[in-house]
Amino acid sequence: MSAGAGSDRSEKMLIAAHGVSKAIDGRLVLDNESIRCEPGTMTALVGPSGSGKTTLLHCLGLLLPVDEGRIVIGTDDVTAYRSAARRRFWRDHAAFVLQDYGIMDEESVAFNVAMRAGLIPRLATGAQERLRRTLDRTGLSGRQDETASHLSGGEKQRLALARAIYKQARIVFVDEPTASLDAANRQKVIDLLAELAADGRTVLVSTHDSEMISACDSRHEIGSNRQAA
Ligand SMILES: Nc1ncnc2c1ncn2[C@@H]1O[C@H](COP(=O)(O)OP(=O)(O)OP(=O)(O)O)[C@@H](O)[C@H]1O
Ligand SMILES: [Mg+2]
Repeated sequence: MSAGAGSDRSEKMLIAAHGVSKAIDGRLVLDNESIRCEPGTMTALVGPSGSGKTTLLHCLGLLLPVDEGRIVIGTDDVTAYRSAARRRFWRDHAAFVLQDYGIMDEESVAFNVAMRAGLIPRLATGAQERLRRTLDRTGLSGRQDETASHLSGGEKQRLALARAIYKQARIVFVDEPTASLDAANRQKVIDLLAELAADGRTVLVSTHDSEMISACDSRHEIGSNRQAA
């Protein structure tokens, strides 16, 4: 099935970039990047600050168009996806845990996880149970009615992960998930991401954290294609 069609969440999805280049403000940020991320694995995007990790993550997640090269998701070349197809991909298959967490501070924890205003607190029983299990796994049990702005930085980071877990997205894009966390929270976040990969999802993590990198199945150094060429 194609990345754009339907919403079969049991489907496993490869994501790859082939020879991707991207200039921002006239400066070449990504130069001929190629990467292949297999379902059921966690891939670390590594490189110095400013090397283009976030940019590559955004290109792979179709948040940013590429200048050259191809993005492949599942069996589809999605490089030229129009906005409707991109929105379907985000809705049905992708979850983003970005640097600012993307949390709506004034909303409740439950709303931030389930992203459904009208249904809360009247979520269907199955959805309620899924919400409960997700909050359990992320150490946020019993916090569903709290306003997100009351959470600490580490709790917000786990809330952002809870949203990705609840959504059961096939591909999870994560930017610096452990930056500014203490050791205990960092380990929790690493374990949660590893569980997502073990569950068959394709997990991409931009990171500087050596423990996060060690937990990944493979690592991609930005610029390594260029050096090898
Ligand atoms: N919206 C933008 N406008 C201008 N320059 C940008 C923009 N986004 C990224 N850049 C530039 O592209 C380069 C790569 O940025 P990117 O955020 O991808 O790096 P990074 O590897 O994620 O760095 P960090 O480890 O600090 O998060 C940087 O030089 C940055 O200044
Ligand atoms: Mg970055």
